[in-house]
Amino acid sequence: MGVDEQMQDEFGTMAAWTRQAVSDLGPDHAIPAACRGSGRPSGLDWILTRLGPQPAGRLLDVGAGLGGPAAYAKMHTALRPVCVEPMRQAAAGAASLFGLPALVGDGARLPFASGSFRFAWSLGTLCTTDQKGVWLAELRRVLRPKGRLGLLVVMATSDSFDVPWGNAFPSEEELTWLLGAAGFMVLDAVWSDDLAPADATWQRLEDEVEVAVRDAHGADARYATVKEQERNLGELLESGRVRGRLLVAGGA
Ligand SMILES: C[S@@+](CC[C@H](N)C(=O)[O-])C[C@H]1O[C@@H](n2cnc3c(N)ncnc32)[C@H](O)[C@@H]1O
Repeated sequence: MGVDEQMQDEFGTMAAWTRQAVSDLGPDHAIPAACRGSGRPSGLDWILTRLGPQPAGRLLDVGAGLGGPAAYAKMHTALRPVCVEPMRQAAAGAASLFGLPALVGDGARLPFASGSFRFAWSLGTLCTTDQKGVWLAELRRVLRPKGRLGLLVVMATSDSFDVPWGNAFPSEEELTWLLGAAGFMVLDAVWSDDLAPADATWQRLEDEVEVAVRDAHGADARYATVKEQERNLGELLESGRVRGRLLVAGGA
């Protein structure tokens, strides 16, 4: 199976299955289930409070998935998120679950004029591409000179391990260099595992959607592929070989 098909299973088919489960279980399940990668409120709050004092205006979300983080931002701030996501089912889910503007598009070729946004974020995405420099240059281009960028990046802390398909974890040095080359300066950063875990309610809602998806699709080979991928990443996180890093950057 090619990486494209595996990406389709993980971020397209799984998004469609999750959307269906949320429709069955109720709208309170939507945001926890649709934060795939960015995980928990503490990380989203950490970025949102560093975008500026009471940020308002449009927030570009690149690789927005099903739109959980964008919906969280819309609910908790005056920001108006705009989602870009290559997987049709995920973009359609963000539009139907949360009423978010969601374009099918690619982080390497953002469909916006230069200087269109004051704020952008990209969560759990840079670590899935080898085109990090191109993505960051695109983010720099569509942000205004004083715009702010939030990132969640899964980073490699040691260099000798098998990287699960579809991932390209940067080291801290590499990411700092890439940000600088694209014209960004890191203003603040934290390891995501140093922040609070999701509370019991969030966790329960997320788990209920997982169970519903498993009950409906557990026998599907695509389900097994995605779960294996999640297990591999989980083991790398557990062992500390990779860690989530949250960053807020501004113009250099
Ligand atoms: C780990 S998920 C994170 C989703 C979302 N940001 C979140 O935190 O819930 C990575 C996302 O990056 C998207 N992605 C993959 N290739 C991309 C590309 N070329 N441009 C933009 N996004 C991409 C995937 O489809 C997927 O939705």
